[in-house]
Amino acid sequence: MRTYLLALLVNVALFSQALQAGDLHFTDAEGKPLAQVMVTRTPTQVPAADLSDDGYAPHGVTNRSATTLTRFSDAEGRVSFNHEAGQYTYRARAQGYRDVYFDTPEGAKTLQPLSHEQYIASYPSNVWLSQLQFGGDETLKKSFQLNCAFCHQQASPFMRNERTPEQWVSVIERMNTYGARLPDDEHQRVAELLQKEYRQLRENPEQVPEPRQWEEHLSEIQMTEWPIGDAFSQMHDFLLHPNGLVYVGDNLFDRIYEVDPDTGEYTVYKVPHDEDAKLGGILGNRFEVFPKMHNYMGVHSFAYSKKDGNIFITPSMQQALLEFDISKKEFIIHDMPDGYYPHTIRTDDNDDVWFTMALSSQVARFDRSTSEFKLYDLPARSIKEWLILKALPFIFSMDPENRPTPSPDNESSGLPMP
Ligand code: HEC
Repeated sequence: MRTYLLALLVNVALFSQALQAGDLHFTDAEGKPLAQVMVTRTPTQVPAADLSDDGYAPHGVTNRSATTLTRFSDAEGRVSFNHEAGQYTYRARAQGYRDVYFDTPEGAKTLQPLSHEQYIASYPSNVWLSQLQFGGDETLKKSFQLNCAFCHQQASPFMRNERTPEQWVSVIERMNTYGARLPDDEHQRVAELLQKEYRQLRENPEQVPEPRQWEEHLSEIQMTEWPIGDAFSQMHDFLLHPNGLVYVGDNLFDRIYEVDPDTGEYTVYKVPHDEDAKLGGILGNRFEVFPKMHNYMGVHSFAYSKKDGNIFITPSMQQALLEFDISKKEFIIHDMPDGYYPHTIRTDDNDDVWFTMALSSQVARFDRSTSEFKLYDLPARSIKEWLILKALPFIFSMDPENRPTPSPDNESSGLPMP
């Protein structure tokens, strides 16, 4: 009996030590409370994971991600976390202050200011980008922003580095093979302006305006992050399914991640493809410089059926529609006779599946009861565009390396991209 009671007491003591709500209090060096300090809790141990399939979880295998949690301090500079000793580390970050790292989320923390130079260097890319003038040519700047800022940021420290105009032209040409469409006649001018104006910015950083301050509402929210995939992944679209799980598509590696937001566990399902399918499908391999690639289908966008919950996915690199059976966890490929680049997708209350065809400028409807597709041509803007669209089957019958493609211009002629 005594042993039992002792064990119980020890357990209670251990438990209260194990899970504590730690309270943090942030101030500056003068003791003024700091609001909206961003505190991120990271597990000390990354859960062991099976990543034996080219760096990813094999088909059907479940791993657990190293989930992080982020909260922001309130107007009094306070924020709290449930803490288990030894399980987590913390990073606190505030605009204009040095990052602080600690293991226990408790007590007063004084943040030290960055130097003026460090503070400017810490400004986000967009405020640096706002200072590129493109020689006063607003249209050219818009063209650059439209074509160069939709995959990754511009004007980050790495992007602001010195490059010669020749190096910039070569970067721009490579980016256009990935999917940017900066018009050909702008390459040289943009290359010269990027060298000149990034140099001016590096030499006169004081001209960069202070970024917006993080807003008060942040203290009311928390952010959970589940690291999945790796630096080569392109997590393109995601869907919160009525079953409570989140489905994420890796567009470049033909994999679906099924994430359980309650536990951080995720299961990977690998999209099958025809045996004779080629990397990059109808577009050919545009990513030859990449050390790995697996985009035979391309996992573009998601929608679920309100009837049975199955997920419909547009595989951009094929003439097909992809269905993921939510109970059997199996893929069904619906081959499609026509149309190029299935893109944005919706389901309706009739359980029909609708999606755009970005390259052939069409809208498609898939009737689930008959498994038939109906394609609707969208009106072309000119005879030339109509001709280009009608020539697509012929163009796509050619080898991807040698087929003609319309040169990019500011009207995106021949490629209206619904
Ligand atoms: C379709 C997505 C996409 C678009 C659009 C895009 N990029 Fe990139 N960019 C990438 C990827 C992926 C990488 C990394 C791989 C590489 O460097 O080839 C990259 C890397 C870079 C780099 C660093 C590589 C180096 O050689 O210095 C620069 C600079 C860059 N991009 C500039 C641009 C510019 C300028 C544009 C507009 C013409 C642009 N990007 C548009 C995807 C894109």
